Amino acid sequence: MTDSATTASDTIVVVGLGYVGLTLAVALAQRGCRVIGLEKREEVVSLANSGQAHFSETGLDRALQAVIANGNFVACTELATDFTADAYIITVGTPLIAGTTRPRLDMIEQASRQVADHMADGALVVLRSTVKIGTTRNVVKPVLDASGKQFHLSMCPERTLEGAALQELAQLPQIVSGDSDAAANRADALFRKLTRATVRVSDLETAEMIKLIDNTSRDVRFAFANEVARACDAIGINAGEVIRAGKFEYPRTDVALPGLVGGPCLEKDPHILMASLSEFGTSLEITAACRQVNERQPAETVRAIIARLAERAEAPYRVAVAGIAFKGRPETDDLRGSMSLKVIDCLLADTAVGEVVLYDGVVKRADLEALGLDVRIEDSLVAACDGANALVIGNNHPEYADIDLDACTGAMAAGGFVYDYWAHLVERPPSQLRGRYFPVGNNAGRF
Ligand SMILES: NC(=O)c1ccc[n+]([C@@H]2O[C@H](COP(=O)([O-])OP(=O)(O)OC[C@H]3O[C@@H](n4cnc5c(N)ncnc54)[C@H](O)[C@@H]3O)[C@@H](O)[C@H]2O)c1
Repeated sequence: MTDSATTASDTIVVVGLGYVGLTLAVALAQRGCRVIGLEKREEVVSLANSGQAHFSETGLDRALQAVIANGNFVACTELATDFTADAYIITVGTPLIAGTTRPRLDMIEQASRQVADHMADGALVVLRSTVKIGTTRNVVKPVLDASGKQFHLSMCPERTLEGAALQELAQLPQIVSGDSDAAANRADALFRKLTRATVRVSDLETAEMIKLIDNTSRDVRFAFANEVARACDAIGINAGEVIRAGKFEYPRTDVALPGLVGGPCLEKDPHILMASLSEFGTSLEITAACRQVNERQPAETVRAIIARLAERAEAPYRVAVAGIAFKGRPETDDLRGSMSLKVIDCLLADTAVGEVVLYDGVVKRADLEALGLDVRIEDSLVAACDGANALVIGNNHPEYADIDLDACTGAMAAGGFVYDYWAHLVERPPSQLRGRYFPVGNNAGRF
């Protein structure tokens, strides 16, 4: 087996063309690699080969079209047998098993089997997905071993931000690990095509852990901000003021601002970390408590919204929810793990709510319809507000920082108000906000 560095013209198979895989495949193809994207969903493959990503990502469609045109990228549902690749990168999903807090492994196992069947002796196999500790060594490796072929195994977790992924792939340091120095060297050479900085870590488990800790630390930080919001709501003071004033030119406090915490990574990765540690007989109390704070926030806040509605109007209420993607900045159309959907579920489950109206300026109407919710969908914010008793802002898209409050509340029923999970408008003059604008953590509406 050679220890040669992968070269720019090397052939790379990326298994799974989701948010991570397609973006990574295109980034490698842009740097001169020949990339074959293996994806099991036919519609994703045909869209990709026509130069279109099946999700919104800044600059991706244009870059995809360029690497198709220069012959560096092609997508397929099955790998041809007349070639083998120098490297295989597994980027398949690792969602939680429905109704549990344990991650699915079946897609990693299946992808590993496909790689094992296709690879030749000497291939580099990289696991890129976010996984439970030990997955690379105890799940992927045995499948590859069973092929009887020789290979180099590496774990290099994906850490990009959806919406800025192409840019971040060129800038972020890449975490690199291997089951041998030779494997780590090969992976290092591969990822240096993307970025100047790689961080070599001691073993596969350290690389797996870094990814889980990155996301869990964000979950914990945001949960504390939401705990501050709960506390201030209970006392009747303004959490935004407590946080901003407290950290103004004070170097030892850096509390985040409260808001809905979800998305495809944060909703699962702390659970994957806890599932990992439970196998080592260890429970993680802070991680568990923070997940709980973030997961119960929609139900708690919807109760407060309904209580305010009851003070102002007769049920049944019409509630508009704007910002349905899991985040608004950077912009995405990704609905996975969106806490706005949990807010909508809580509203729909409340018998006092008669109608829920949705608006999102980024997510396609067809994707909102595909959710199968008993809701009405509008194409403008003001249309969504028409006759509503409340407008709930669910994500931090910049559009909501510019809303015309008069136009929104003017379109609403008498007593209509805005409940904002992201406190977009708090810098506006208090006289504009009082009585009709309530950010999370300022349920008393004190400005
Ligand atoms: N989305 C992000 O921004 C992000 C960031 C960092 C890490 N991650 C992690 O990366 C992994 C992938 O995330 P994602 O968001 O790209 O998931 P995704 O669901 O968008 O993409 C996975 C793709 O793999 C395909 N697939 C599954 N099994 C396959 C197989 N055997 N052969 C071919 N294709 C197969 C699926 O059809 C899907 O298109 C996850 O572990 C996730 O936690 C995601």
